[in-house]
Amino acid sequence: MRMLVTAGPTREPIDPVRFISNRSTGKMGFAIAQCAVARGHTVTLVAGPVALATPPGLQRVDVVSARDMLKAVETHLPDCNALVMCAAVADWRPRQPSAVKLKKRGMSPVLELEPNPDILATIRDRKNGRVFVGFAAETGDPRPEGRRKLAEKGLDLLVANDVSRPDAGFAADTNRVVLLTPDGKDQTLPLLSKQEVAERIVTWVEQVLALR
Ligand code: PMT
Repeated sequence: MRMLVTAGPTREPIDPVRFISNRSTGKMGFAIAQCAVARGHTVTLVAGPVALATPPGLQRVDVVSARDMLKAVETHLPDCNALVMCAAVADWRPRQPSAVKLKKRGMSPVLELEPNPDILATIRDRKNGRVFVGFAAETGDPRPEGRRKLAEKGLDLLVANDVSRPDAGFAADTNRVVLLTPDGKDQTLPLLSKQEVAERIVTWVEQVLALR
């Protein structure tokens, strides 16, 4: 398998020293990439700004913003037969980032935003037999929104996590996920390390590709 994995947050600049971002550390996405490499697969890892070392044996592409991440995914997708979008992509960016550091006195208390492209929605017509896996970060029961995103983004698998729990989601070493598939058979996994969740996801993708 040739797997493209995205991980970490994106950063959307306000000025050269300030940005909008989120709490993703990249741990979940890096665990998936590392697991796929350990099983002998070819992996390209598109990483937002994170403080993690590159796992040996894979190609890492560093990006900053959502638009950078979209470009990197579009560049590397043709070489892959599986995509796992684990990155927490910022949905919005400041409309007019300043080229120079804004002075406190000159700043407006209101930040004008515009939407970022949705990466999965942009590439959904380029599947051509590829397996697409997405994540959904929700506070509370992640299944209803997860199911909506599974259908809306044309995914084969959606990994839904309740990020309001301290032992799951952003920054934790463990995760609690529900695997949602178009056949409607939800699979709720117990509390697992992110490495164990990664194993389940990579196994799922391997099995689907073996049947194609
Ligand atoms: O990095 P960690 O600290 O280990 O944390 C892991 C995690 C919580 C970030 C991870 O488990 C997770 O849930 N990742 C997805 C977070 C997210 O952005 O979810 P979402 O519900 O906003 O997005 C749904 C899907 O669309 C995701 O696959 C996302 O990558 C994708 N997306 C989102 C926005 C956008 N503009 N383009 C996208 O393709």
